[in-house]
Amino acid sequence: MSIHKEVKRITTFVLQEMKAKGEKIAMLTAYEYTLGKLLDQAGVEILLVGDSASNVIAGHETTLPITLDQMIYHAAAVVRAANRALVVVDMPFGSYQGDAHEALRSAIRIMKESGGHAVKLEGGEEIADAVKKIVDAGIPVMGHLGLTPQSIYQFGTYGVRAKEQEEAEKLLHDALLLQKAGVFAIVLEKVPAKLAQKVTASVQVPVIGIGAGAHTDGQVLVVHDMLGMTQDFSPRFLRRYLNLSEQVTTAVSQYVQDVKAQTFPNEKESY
Ligand code: KIV
Repeated sequence: MSIHKEVKRITTFVLQEMKAKGEKIAMLTAYEYTLGKLLDQAGVEILLVGDSASNVIAGHETTLPITLDQMIYHAAAVVRAANRALVVVDMPFGSYQGDAHEALRSAIRIMKESGGHAVKLEGGEEIADAVKKIVDAGIPVMGHLGLTPQSIYQFGTYGVRAKEQEEAEKLLHDALLLQKAGVFAIVLEKVPAKLAQKVTASVQVPVIGIGAGAHTDGQVLVVHDMLGMTQDFSPRFLRRYLNLSEQVTTAVSQYVQDVKAQTFPNEKESY
């Protein structure tokens, strides 16, 4: 008999139960094995292999340049790290907007080559056919509405979305359409808290907010932001739980000093 308690994998069904019980869902982005393992061990229910890797890992200004191959590389590393969390993989810009068949081909590549458990697509009505096609193939899909960074050149800014009634009504309509197409959850990014609350109450699937107030079924943040690794990004919704940029800089400066002063390595650190 194993002395290790078996870890129960978070599934889309578990997330649905959490919404029903009013238990909040914690989601963070993850892009690699070592940090991914820590997030999984700390109890994060969903690890999102976000296309924000394009910003925080590759240093691009937007999420647009990251490729399907690069997303698969990051996702496979996170899958190897996750014992408990559900791993959701962002479908990158250009891999699903063409037509539903292309979207399905891309989703199948992600599932086969990374071992991820679900995919996420940005958009509403315009991608509903693609969502249905992917769901019909047995692949769980997470939606993403509000500020959808892949459309940044259409929006022009990263400001709050759906402040006006017309856009708010479209967003609610899109959420209902995505639900009908079969999504298991929806990310709502940077929208007024009241609207997020209304959407959350109007759909049966869990709604995970980022900059969407306290009344969604869960929260998501970019891990580099919440750990304080990024320095030049301080939106109002971001809570920094650490100031890693300062701690890393201090530690590395000390290392540089030690190397130059020949105090590292010492005798105990040598063979
Ligand atoms: O790519 C990403 O990090 C995301 C989150 C902001 C939800 O989509």
